[in-house]
Amino acid sequence: WRGEKNLYKIWLSEVMLQQTQIKTVIPYYLNWIEKFPNIKSVATAKEDEILKCWEGLGYYSRVQNFHHSCKIVLKDYNGKIPKNSELFLKLKGVGEYIHAAVFSIGLNKKIPVIDGNVKRVISRYLGLKKEINLEKKNILYFLEKNISIISNAGAFNQATMDLGRLICKPKNPDCENCPIQQNCIALKKDIVYKIPIKVKKKKVPHYKMIVGIVSKKNKILLCKRNKKGLLGGMWELPNGKIESKETNKKALKRIMTEFGLNFNSQKYLGKARHEYSHFSIEQNGYKCEYKSGNLISKDHSEYKWIYFNEKCNYPIHTASHKILNKMKEILND
Ligand code: ADE
Repeated sequence: WRGEKNLYKIWLSEVMLQQTQIKTVIPYYLNWIEKFPNIKSVATAKEDEILKCWEGLGYYSRVQNFHHSCKIVLKDYNGKIPKNSELFLKLKGVGEYIHAAVFSIGLNKKIPVIDGNVKRVISRYLGLKKEINLEKKNILYFLEKNISIISNAGAFNQATMDLGRLICKPKNPDCENCPIQQNCIALKKDIVYKIPIKVKKKKVPHYKMIVGIVSKKNKILLCKRNKKGLLGGMWELPNGKIESKETNKKALKRIMTEFGLNFNSQKYLGKARHEYSHFSIEQNGYKCEYKSGNLISKDHSEYKWIYFNEKCNYPIHTASHKILNKMKEILND
């Protein structure tokens, strides 16, 4: 996307890059551009289609907001992304970061981008010693002053982000090769490793879960999560939390009953861990042979029986993929 002047592509790339590393984003970006080359193609696509192209990238509300905003751009602005900050900022999912990135890279507007990398570079360069979120005003003031005298605002922002990612890294910063080492206060004072100061992260809760691959002949059951809430609109295997002191078998029976499902037999497939930003899970996968019942889960809006080996068109979240992969490993043994 470097050198790209198409606002739609810049916007898309920045939405993808907002919470995901560049090397992960690249194949998704290329695939997306092929499928959805412009605003109209996104605006007229179904949600399942756009989620499928985002499958595995996580933070799915990013793409749901982008989808919603592309529809607004098509309907209200004739498919042209508004070049007015106020109008662009009204779109869903467009906050300070996306606005600054798209308008500086695409329109050469002198608006500084502030992400985690930029905060680290500038707080070290200026030797800022307060907790990083308390330094945001100082960082913004410094960047605004500097970007105002630079002719290529997009290059300035991207260079600062690159510097943070490649040189001024959180651990093992490569100060020797840093192009701004001469005036770096943290380096001068030998406190690079101490900056930025961050509040200690709270320990995230950990849950034990049961996940079922419920089979009926060659098909397995997939459920679509309700639109509102975590992973809304994504498809998954039936699952639920194990209560404290509950055995796996008891939990499996209870959870499947809550889904309205009865099964004949079960086989343990193994464990798969998954980490979200605010909690982590240990999934215990079971293959269950379907006997009777229809889905009645309050957390799901639809369900489908799909062929296990067929390429699935429904977007499935990564945690469920991990259990499906356990099943594939067993079948291949
Ligand atoms: N991180 C997010 N967007 C970026 C960009 N355009 N250049 C470098 N790093 C980034």
